[in-house]
Amino acid sequence: MTVNSTPLIEVRDISKYFGSVIALSGVSMTVQAGEVMCLLGDNGAGKSTLIKILAGVHRPSEGHYLVNGEEAHFNSPRDALDRGIATVYQDLAMIPLMSIARNFFLGSEPTRGRGIFRRFDARFADRMARDELAKMGIDIRNPSQPVGTLSGGERQSVAIARAVYFGAKVLILDEPTAALGVKQAGTVLRYVAQARSQGIGVIFITHNPHHAYAVGDRFTILKRGRTMGTFTRAELSRDEMVRMMSGADELDELSSELERLAQQDARIHEDALSVIEHQLAESLEKPEV
Ligand SMILES: Nc1ncnc2c1ncn2[C@@H]1O[C@H](COP(=O)(O)OP(=O)(O)OP(=O)(O)O)[C@@H](O)[C@H]1O
Ligand SMILES: [Mg+2]
Repeated sequence: MTVNSTPLIEVRDISKYFGSVIALSGVSMTVQAGEVMCLLGDNGAGKSTLIKILAGVHRPSEGHYLVNGEEAHFNSPRDALDRGIATVYQDLAMIPLMSIARNFFLGSEPTRGRGIFRRFDARFADRMARDELAKMGIDIRNPSQPVGTLSGGERQSVAIARAVYFGAKVLILDEPTAALGVKQAGTVLRYVAQARSQGIGVIFITHNPHHAYAVGDRFTILKRGRTMGTFTRAELSRDEMVRMMSGADELDELSSELERLAQQDARIHEDALSVIEHQLAESLEKPEV
């Protein structure tokens, strides 16, 4: 990666408002070819909003969006896709009952025959889907098996392989490892690294500092719609990142607050108990009528 080459994509001072909600405010970020840029931040920090702008789902309220150094104005995700910006969302746009091969070519089906004889070329689709997945090290026994029978990690991998096959230059992954176990997350992380080594610029969103540190070259941290800066691996140790992302400071604060509440609670309980005891004692003292 040459640091001074034109970024594949760049946002400058991007803001996004939803009515009175400020989802993003003055955010800048670049993605170079052959790097993994991790986008980190708490719930509601604005990560998904930022990538939806990159993917052509939202238009920024303010600021500039440049693709290969030129201002871009996307009106739909199709516009972004045409420029090689592919997004894999957590809730994948796949159809569980349709085959792996069918899903792989969804929206760009290969056909054979002409006119009324034109039909989906299942054999070609099966072979290509299997070959492309094999290139990424995914061994699919039967490409005509329904996608619904794949594990979450395999499904994410199919989506990544498909984006790469259709010529993605930028691959945006919104929390691809969130719902996965250790082994499956590892599989997906391997494909992320593989996409990078093919020269693709990857934007990888995750809540997991270990996943981020495993593949990330640079880290942009968002907090309540603002950027806390972009850091290289050299500038941000794993421990610092873990501490930052696990919200260790917030957790410390929370636990002392909970302790205070528990003490308060105990006092209230004691008060309540003594009132009850008092009433009980009184009622016992009273002679029965
Ligand atoms: N379409 C919308 N209309 C109104 N507010 C929105 C919309 N989309 C996002 N927001 C608000 O913008 C803020 C940022 O949301 P966003 O989904 O980008 O956060 P996030 O970092 O992706 O969070 P998470 O980690 O939970 O996915 C939130 O306060 C959210 O409620
Ligand atoms: Mg999100």
